Order: sequence, then structure tokens, then C-alpha cells
Amino acid sequence: MSSGAQTETYNDKVVRQFAVMTVVWGVVGMLVGVFIAAQMYWPALNFDTSWLSFGRLRPLHTNAVIFAFGGCGLFATSLYVVQRTCHVRLISDRLAAFVFWGWQAVIVLAAITLPLGLTQSKEYAELIWPIDLLITAVWVAYAWLFFGTIAKRRVKHIFVANWFYGSYVIAVALLHIVNNLAIPTDLLHSYPVYAGAVDAMAQWWYGHNAVGFFLTTGFLGMMYYFVPRQAGRPIYSYRLSIVHFWALIAVYMWAGPHHLQYTAIPDWAQSLGMVFSLILLAPSWGGAINGIMTLSGAWHKLRTDPIIKFLIVAISFYMMSTFEGPMMSIKTVNALSHYTDWTIGHVHSGALGWVAMITIGSIYALIPRVLGLKEMASMKMIDQHFWLHTVGVVLYIVAMWIAGIQQGLMARATNPDGTLAYAWIEILEFNYPFYLVRFLGGVLIVAGMALMCINVWRTFRLAKAPAESPVLPVAGAHA
Ligand code: HEM
Ligand code: HEM
Repeated sequence: MSSGAQTETYNDKVVRQFAVMTVVWGVVGMLVGVFIAAQMYWPALNFDTSWLSFGRLRPLHTNAVIFAFGGCGLFATSLYVVQRTCHVRLISDRLAAFVFWGWQAVIVLAAITLPLGLTQSKEYAELIWPIDLLITAVWVAYAWLFFGTIAKRRVKHIFVANWFYGSYVIAVALLHIVNNLAIPTDLLHSYPVYAGAVDAMAQWWYGHNAVGFFLTTGFLGMMYYFVPRQAGRPIYSYRLSIVHFWALIAVYMWAGPHHLQYTAIPDWAQSLGMVFSLILLAPSWGGAINGIMTLSGAWHKLRTDPIIKFLIVAISFYMMSTFEGPMMSIKTVNALSHYTDWTIGHVHSGALGWVAMITIGSIYALIPRVLGLKEMASMKMIDQHFWLHTVGVVLYIVAMWIAGIQQGLMARATNPDGTLAYAWIEILEFNYPFYLVRFLGGVLIVAGMALMCINVWRTFRLAKAPAESPVLPVAGAHA
């Protein structure tokens, strides 16, 4: 297994491959997002073609941005961080190559099957069972690679970012297997082993923890490595990071039923979900403050370093969405927000504000280092990307908040005789301009990603033949 272990270099090839694909899938996934946003404003863009319809492209968007863009970002950074912090090369180059090509195969299969309408109809777990099996194989290989490298480390201590990455690797394996247990009827179809309310509970246990462990702890791993690295400062409080870790993983698993308020699941389960969601605010904010305060003594870098801007604004969005989420889990608030665009606004303040920005910042920090360069070809373009992205996200989420809250209020308004005050079409008419604003926000975000492509391309050209960097001696700083 340990083909590269004797050499004194890091396996940066797999990191470079995943980093490039993060950018590529980021552009693809966000372009699909812009297209479905356009369909909401110009429904004719369905072109009366089944595979171009909103219902088929929406899961393509969510899978592409979460698992292809976010996933490749997590693979790239975790495999980079684990080597740098353990002062050792990955245990196996072949396993690393299998993880890379296997994951790309999963993405391509998803991109073919979802537009064809082949789905098992579970949100964020749409992929049909043969692809689920491939995911399992790739994930086992990834876990082996990651934990095997930790086991072989040259330092006793396990750096905190690896704790967060490790919890995401374990939790995603558990979630994926439990929620996808199914009985196949043929190659393309299966029935879940659960039924009715139990199926819903299993699905949202999965769904919420996909947010908790895929979209949160993995990206906190990025925060704990790249914020101190880029700021040139130690983590604000190491003790807080340990409290953050244990509190977060202890609480997240219980909050799933907040997705099922006022449904057929037991009332106590709904309240439990609400209470744990409210508690979740504390570790989330504790961790975020730890990230932001790492900058103390280096605040001036917020003015000069666009990568720091990406990282710190990402943490600010993380704080915003982890404040908003607990509020939305309160049953009376959820009665208003559920079924409205408020949820979509919340999702994207987490997804575009937190997940995308921390990933983009980390990838900008990582690419030059795995190419033997000091920085990206153009820091100015990173700054321009930062502004395009930030303005785009703000347009997106503000539009969805206004549309969402108004939808909720209009849908529940009644006349004195008890009839509904607004017809559905009137609510839709109100939303219309906000869908245009969301579309424009998306266009700005994709324009920023286009700049990133050009910048990454130019940086690779500067590097010519990328050399593998030598494994640093234990006493040395991280490369
Ligand atoms: C250019 C950027 C983006 C645009 C324009 C965009 C647009 C959209 C649109 C129009 C929807 C469907 C909303 C609906 O059904 O009413 C959606 C759903 C969704 N998007 Fe995005 N998106 C973008 C980026 C992202 C990113 C980067 C992520 C994740 C990292 C993401 C995650 C999601 C998720 C999870 C949903 C489903 C939400 C739910 O079911 O509540 N999006 N997006
Ligand atoms: C303390 C942290 C958080 C809590 C308690 C929380 C809570 C909630 C609640 C109550 C909903 C609405 C459920 C509904 O009415 O259907 C929701 C939806 C959602 N949240 Fe969060 N949230 C948190 C953080 C985040 C973050 C950081 C992200 C993204 C990175 C995120 C992504 C999502 C997604 C994708 C959905 C839509 C799920 C769906 O219906 O498809 N959340 N969240």
C-alpha cells in the first residue's frame, strides 16, 4: 500500500488534480444554478424538453455543487492538510489515484443519470443504487488513505483540522450507508428498506447531517488550517477548538427532525429537533469566533490579502446561517418559513457564503503551494473575484429573504370570513422581480468563477513542470 512512503516528497499530484476539478465543477454546478434560476423567471427555458426541465436540472445543480465542487474541494484540502500536518506522504499513490478517478466517475454518472430522470427521489441522495455502491468503494478507499496517513504520521499530535476532516469522513460513510439501504428491483430502480414516516426520519437524519458533516465539519477543517496559515498566526484558542469539535459532533446528529416540523413524525421528535438546533448555535458561533479571532494582531491583512477576505467573510456567512438556522427550526417560525424561498435564501447563505467562499479562499491559498510558487498569477483578479462573489451572494440571499417572508405572510393571510386573502398567482406575481435579482446575483458569481479559471490557468502556466515538494522535517513550519 505504501508505494510513495519511502520517498521524501508529498503526493501533490492528487491535490492538484482535485484542486483543478474543484474549479471546473464549481463553474459547471453554478452555471446549472444560474440556468435554473433563469427558468424560474423565464419558464420557456424548459424548451419543453424533459432533460432540460427544472425538476431534472435542480438535483443536477445540488449534486454538482455539493458533491462535485464541494467534494473535490474537501478531497484536495484534506489530502493536502493531512500530509503537511503529519509530515508524511500519503500512504499510497495508487489508492490516491483510485479515489480521484473513482470520484470523477461518480460525478460523470450523476451528470448522465439525473437529467435522464433516473433517481431514487431522496433529496441529496438521488443517485441510483449502482452509483451508490461506487461511492461506497471510493469512500472506503478515501478513509483508508486519510486515516492510514494519520496512523503513519511523524508527529505525535493530531492537528485539529484533521479531527474535523476525520469526523466528516466517518459520518458521511455512516449517513450514506444507512440512508441508501435499498432493495434493487433492476439495474436502475430500487425500493428503500424504510417506509412512511420512518423513511422520512432516516432521510432527514441523513439530510441534516449531510449539512452538518459534509457542508460544515469538512469545511471547518479548511478553516482550521488555512486561516492560521494565511494569517501567519496560531489558532486563537486551541482549547476552544477542542470544545468546538466535541460539542458540534455531539449535537448535530439530533437536529434532523427540524426539517419535518408539522409532519406525521412524532411531536416529541419535532420538539427534540428544535431544541438541539437551538443548542447548536453555541458551538457553531464558538468555532466561528475562534476562526475570526485568529486574525487578531493581523487585522490589516483584511485590507491587503484577498484570500484572507474570502476566508473571513466565509466565516461571517457561517455565523449568519448558523444563527438563522436555529431560528428557522423554532416551530412557529418554521410555520412561516417552510415552503418558501426563505429556506432557499438560508441554504445559499450557507452554501454560497460559507461553503463556496471558504473553498475558493483555500484553493487560492493551496494551488501555488502545490506548484512550487509563492502566490497565484494575479492577486488583483482574486480581489475582483471576491467582490463579484460577495455582491452576488448578497443579491441572491436578500432577494430570497424578501420573497420568502412575503410568500409566508401572503399565504397565511385570511379575510374576516376565513377565506384566503391572496390567490397563489398573486403570490407568484410578487416573487417575480426577486427571481430576476437572484438570477443577476448568480451571473455575478459565475463571472467571478470565470476569473478564477483564468487565474488558475495562468498560475499553472507559470509553474511549467510542477515539482513535488519535499516532506518537511518535524520541527519545520508547514509548507
Ligand atoms: C451561481 C450560484 C448559484 C445559483 C444561481 C443557484 C441557484 C439555485 C436555484 C435556482 C435553486 C432552486 C431553488 C428552488 O427550488 O426554488 C437552488 C437550489 C439549491 N442550491 Fe443553488 N445556486 C448556486 C450555487 C449553489 C452552491 C455553491 C451550492 C452549494 C455548495 C448550492 C446549493 C443548493 C442547494 C442545497 C439547493 C436546494 C435547496 C433546497 O432544497 O432547499 N447552490 N440553487
Ligand atoms: C446551526 C446550524 C443550522 C441549523 C440549526 C439549521 C436549520 C435549518 C432549518 C430549520 C431549515 C429549514 C427546514 C425546513 O423548513 O424544511 C434548514 C434548511 C437547510 N439548511 Fe440549515 N441550518 C443550519 C446551518 C446550515 C448551514 C451552515 C448550511 C449550509 C452550508 C445549511 C444548509 C441547509 C440546507 C441545504 C437546507 C435545505 C434542506 C432542504 O429542505 O432541502 N444549514 N436548516
